[in-house]
This record gives sequence, structure tokens and C-alpha cells, in this order.
Amino acid sequence: MTVTSVVGLQWGDEAKGKIVDILTDSHEIVVRYQGGNNAGHTVKFDGETYKLSLLPTGILRPGVTAVIGNGLVVNPEALLKEMKSLTDRGVRCDGGNLLVSDRAHVILPYHIVEDAVFEKRRGAEAIGTTGRGIGTAYRDKALRSHAIRIGDLYHPASFRSRLTEIVAAKNLMLKALDPNVETLDAEAIFASYTDYAEQIKPHVIDTTAYLHKALKAGKNMLFEGAQGSLLDVDHGTFPYVTSSNSSSAGIHSGSGIPQRAINRMIGIVKAYTTRVGGGPFPTELNNATGQHIRDVGHEYGTVTGRPRRCGWLDGVATSYGARICGVDEIAVMLLDVLAQLDELQICEAYEIRGERTTDFPSHVEDLEAAKPIYRTIPGWKQDITGARKLSDLPSGARRYVDTVAELMGLPVKFISIGPDREQTILL
Ligand code: IMO
Ligand code: MG
Repeated sequence: MTVTSVVGLQWGDEAKGKIVDILTDSHEIVVRYQGGNNAGHTVKFDGETYKLSLLPTGILRPGVTAVIGNGLVVNPEALLKEMKSLTDRGVRCDGGNLLVSDRAHVILPYHIVEDAVFEKRRGAEAIGTTGRGIGTAYRDKALRSHAIRIGDLYHPASFRSRLTEIVAAKNLMLKALDPNVETLDAEAIFASYTDYAEQIKPHVIDTTAYLHKALKAGKNMLFEGAQGSLLDVDHGTFPYVTSSNSSSAGIHSGSGIPQRAINRMIGIVKAYTTRVGGGPFPTELNNATGQHIRDVGHEYGTVTGRPRRCGWLDGVATSYGARICGVDEIAVMLLDVLAQLDELQICEAYEIRGERTTDFPSHVEDLEAAKPIYRTIPGWKQDITGARKLSDLPSGARRYVDTVAELMGLPVKFISIGPDREQTILL
């Protein structure tokens, strides 16, 4: 039995979806355990492009059951829209292959309004959230008094009275923070959410119990991480992070499956670095090379369309992500994007206030002070999108991959040299 985890080791958008898609061939169940519709996964095969946000990528494979675990925050309207966009294209998406945890928390309209209000108040220090109400829904989960879980939607009397109380409090708080904010109407929210609840009902179950039965039955299971380890609320570049444990730390809490059940931990590493939103980024390239990477790599957000900040691969940050997640192999993604550069750099250490270190700083101001110390690798200046095995790669590209493996102390098991399923070298 294989229980696999696929997790991003940077600030998200490492092309996790592509590796998940390839591995779903040999897994029967794919589980998301954290985040919500802030994630954005693009998968390409048979000339078709699919963009997923809340749904696990596994949904695209016939025969795979996709699970939205208890650790997510679910916007039911977004869920229904995404399901419809798939069923319209002939992808199966019913109670038989898509399961939603009754313990998952619900994103309500006020979470989205609050997300915008708090971001605006932070001014220059805005986190640059996706504006989907993710952080405010997780805040209410931790607060408990204002939290609604999927299971609560099926208890209409208590749901209605709690919602009335919550919305009254939200209106008071929101008006105090921003007098221009629209007044929320509890009855209207109740009506729409009761309708969403009815529509998603065939999918809603106790997914924890389901997953434990599946484990006992020896089913192959894959945990699909969203975001990346450096956006983890505990281990990432706080406060410029998302609100969940987006490293593999979230698997146990967000699915109910203990970490020790996992026997294959794959870390996903983009051949360079990107970041969307605010926060320190030592290897950022605010120059023509950064723009070249953005153009060639189509580095614009799947969810919000924002241009991603681009820079060199950061071996210090990525190795830290790998240690937090406990990965034992890595996938190097988007290597083709670097093909036309004369010279490449990989950060192997930081200099922070005159001291050399390979430790990743815990405080955002220390990371801001970090100057990358680079290792330079000559470019190979040759298209590699047609390569299908390691020996098809020019020696310069192989040297780059070897350097990544050496700096991270981990074997590379996948090299991606283009967006299509076929453009993957398995080692
Ligand atoms: P995938 O799954 C990259 C970033 C946002 C922002 C911060 C907090 O595609 O890798 P949030 O809306 O979560 O409160 O925003 O986290 N962020 C992502 N960055 N990829 C993602 O997902 C992200 N999801 C959230 O840009 O900086
Ligand atoms: Mg993405």
C-alpha cells in the first residue's frame, strides 16, 4: 500500500498539480487537507487545460475519489461553480467521486468582506491575500464562537439562530472598522447557504471515518498540499503566510490520518522561485532576468491573475521547507523556463548582518536583511521541452539539477520540462 504526500517546498505555485496528476494513475484516493479556494492548480493533458482551485487535482482522473478534508475552509458557492465548470466539460463530479468533510469550516460572505477590510487597514504592510476570506474563516475556526462547519448547515434551526447572532456582531465590527462597508443580511445568507447545502449534500460525509476505512482496506492514498511550506502559518514567513499548515504538518490535523501512515514524501521544487503577495524574498530579481522568467514561465496567478514576483532558486529556504516536511525525494519543476539564460544562480547560504548562515531565519526582519550568497552555473541555452529521459538533457541542465540535489541533500525523482503530462522525466 502506498500513502503519498505531495507538498510544495517554496511559496506556492511549484506545479504540485502536475505531479499529483501523474501520480493519481497509481492512487485511488486524493485528499486535500488545508486551505481553500486560494489555491490554484493548472493541469494540462490531451491538449486540454484545467484550472482547479478548491477541488483536489485527483478529480480529473476517472476512478479516483477526491476528498476535501476537515482541515479546509470551504466556500460552497465556489465549490458548486468549480464542480459545474468540470461537469460542463464531461469530468465526473458527483457524490461517488467527490467527498466533502462535514467537519470542514464554511467561508461565509462576511469573511470575504472582512478579508478586504483588514487588508486595506494594513496599508503598505498588506499581506496581499487572495481576498477569498481564507484567513478570516480560519480565525473564526480558532475563535469558535463565530464558526460554522459544513455539518452545521444541515441543522437549520440552530444554523439560523447562530447566523443571526454572528451577522449582528459582524455588522457592528465591520461598520466600526469601515463605515462604508455594506450591511450584511443574515436571512439572505441563510437562504442562499441552505440552498448550497442542499446541492452539496450528496458529497458531505465524515471523511475521517471514510479515510480510515480506506486505509484499512489497503487503498493507495495521496495527500495533495496546497500553497507551499514557506506559507505555513507556523513554519513560514509569518505574517506573510496563509492561515493553515500548508507544509505537510497539516496532513494529520486536516485529514485525521496520522503522519506515520505516509510512506512516500515528495517535495515539489520549482527550478526558480516565485512569490505572490507581500513579504521578504531574498533572491528576488527586480530586473530583466526576473521579467524574462515571468514571461517564459507565465508567472501570473491562477486565482487572482496577479504577476508573480520571480527570482533565483533559494537553496536555504527550500531546504528548510524540505526539513519541515520531512521529504525524502524531490521533483524539480519548470526547468525549461531557464533554458535561454546565459548564466544561472542558486542561493546556497545567506549573509545576515555579516554572518554566513544556512539556517532559515524565524523573524521576518532577519529574512529581509538576508543577502543571498550564490553559486553560479553556466546556462545551457537550448530548448529542452522535447527531452523524455535524463540523457536527452544537455549537460548544463543536468548540472543544474545535480546542484539542486546536492544543496538539498535529496534525490531528484522527477524533472518537469514543460506543462504537459508527457513532458516529465522520471528518475
Ligand atoms: P497554490 O496552491 C501562491 C498567498 C497569497 C498571500 C498569502 C495569504 O496555487 O500554490 P490567503 O488568501 O491565503 O490568506 O493569502 O498566501 N497564497 C498563495 N501563493 N500559491 C498559492 O496557492 C497561494 N495561496 C495563497 O498570495 O501572499
Ligand atoms: Mg497555484
